[in-house]
Amino acid sequence: MLKFSLIAGLVMLQITLMALAPTSLSGISLIPKPVSITSTDGHFSLTSKSIISYSNQDKELKRLGDFLAERLRPATGFALTVQPTGSKQIVGNISISLSSGDPLLGDEGYLLTIKSDRVNLIARKPAGIFNGIQTLRQLFPAKIECTTKQSDLWQIPAGEIRDFPEYAYRGAMLDVARHFFQIEDVKRYIDLIALYKMNILHLHLSDDQGWRIEIKKWPKLTSVGGSLQVGGGKGGFYTQEQYKEIINYAAARFIVVIPEIDMPGHTNAALASYPELNCNDQATALYTGTEVGFSSLCTKKPITYQFIADVFGEIASITPGPYLHIGGDESHVTKLEDYIPFVNMVQEIVVKLGKQVIGWDEIALSSLKPNSFVQYWAEAENAVLGVRKGAKVIMSPADNCYLDMQYDSTTTLGLHWSGFVEVDKSYNWDPATLVKGISKENIAGVEAPLWTETMVTMSDIEYMAFPRLLGIADIGWRSPSSANWNEYKIRLGNQKERLKLLKINFYPSKQIPWAD
Ligand code: ACM
Repeated sequence: MLKFSLIAGLVMLQITLMALAPTSLSGISLIPKPVSITSTDGHFSLTSKSIISYSNQDKELKRLGDFLAERLRPATGFALTVQPTGSKQIVGNISISLSSGDPLLGDEGYLLTIKSDRVNLIARKPAGIFNGIQTLRQLFPAKIECTTKQSDLWQIPAGEIRDFPEYAYRGAMLDVARHFFQIEDVKRYIDLIALYKMNILHLHLSDDQGWRIEIKKWPKLTSVGGSLQVGGGKGGFYTQEQYKEIINYAAARFIVVIPEIDMPGHTNAALASYPELNCNDQATALYTGTEVGFSSLCTKKPITYQFIADVFGEIASITPGPYLHIGGDESHVTKLEDYIPFVNMVQEIVVKLGKQVIGWDEIALSSLKPNSFVQYWAEAENAVLGVRKGAKVIMSPADNCYLDMQYDSTTTLGLHWSGFVEVDKSYNWDPATLVKGISKENIAGVEAPLWTETMVTMSDIEYMAFPRLLGIADIGWRSPSSANWNEYKIRLGNQKERLKLLKINFYPSKQIPWAD
């Protein structure tokens, strides 16, 4: 009798485990949606004996192997040794290697082959391996994100994923000026956007309410200009060493940081720190409200351009990425006849520093430098003008991309000057057809800005960014022909357990059939 119940118990266990095992590779909900998924029979199992191997003694591949192992070890409890590929093939391996064989994969694409005895991840460049690793994370059961050992079966259905992005620029912007956010919060945001294959973090480092980056030649920018934040609470700033720490953390995840110093408007923090930046030589008072468009650097004074050259000079020297963002938005108290030469001068400064200019769509009114990017947020005519002047466009239409817009009339955080942006609105648009006169070849990519007038904590940021950020990430990566809201909302609903295990405070939109 005991023997019978033991056998019955084992059979039940087997049935339960079979039910838990995923059925097909193409049935797994991945965000962003891969270009192609082919399912085959069988599955791969990660076991306590599995190792991660990398080819050619390549140091960067070793680092990526370690990165993958660190993601998989806590939940599995497996040792997951990372070692160079040897002559002996070990069953259960995950192998990562570089190969230039498939040019369509580009710099960021990858080929992931899952067989019953091994997983091969191949890319042309390390960034592609990194993206493949993020896919691999999502292919394992969500509990892979747990920080303590779980007793799941770590299986992936067999098949092949061949994948590469639609746009090279896939960004998120964080406003650390209205409210200041500590390095640990920024690192968490970097990790979360990396999971969805974004590769740009745009940091809005200065505004009326705060200056957030140390400038050694102009120390009062931070000691005075960085002291407060919206609401009047204590502000803060990053020292240049801390900024470098953020840059390096992002770079290890193939994310380029774009520093923005907004000008000539949105500059009250600087104007309060140094009287000489004001046309009347009087420092303004620090500002902790949420109005916009009332401040301007004095565009007529030579000291203003010395200031800008010093600021961008110091920032450029610690920014390995190719871009400097000059803001340029909502300069309502700068006359157009002053604004245009000002933006032209600032572009000269940036280009002399060997960097590429990015500015909000208003900068299209000036004479744009070759290679400049115009970031479309409000005025389609500006963006189209930028294209006519030879610029590429970063698509951040507030109606679809602004993560600080409220979801609906019941949302307590955020603003609604651009209307409500429910989850479908952030997903359901195509950058290449949204604006007449702007097509795929004119577009650098997409970016989801998050302004923090009303965001005080990381939990606030997460509530507004998730899940809409995933929709923007999907748009940046997917091929447009695969866009399908009814399919996406199920895919997103199936991310629920993963979002929860990552302790993300996401908005549980009623539009989404969240999986139990
Ligand atoms: C902006 O939202 N003022 C770019």
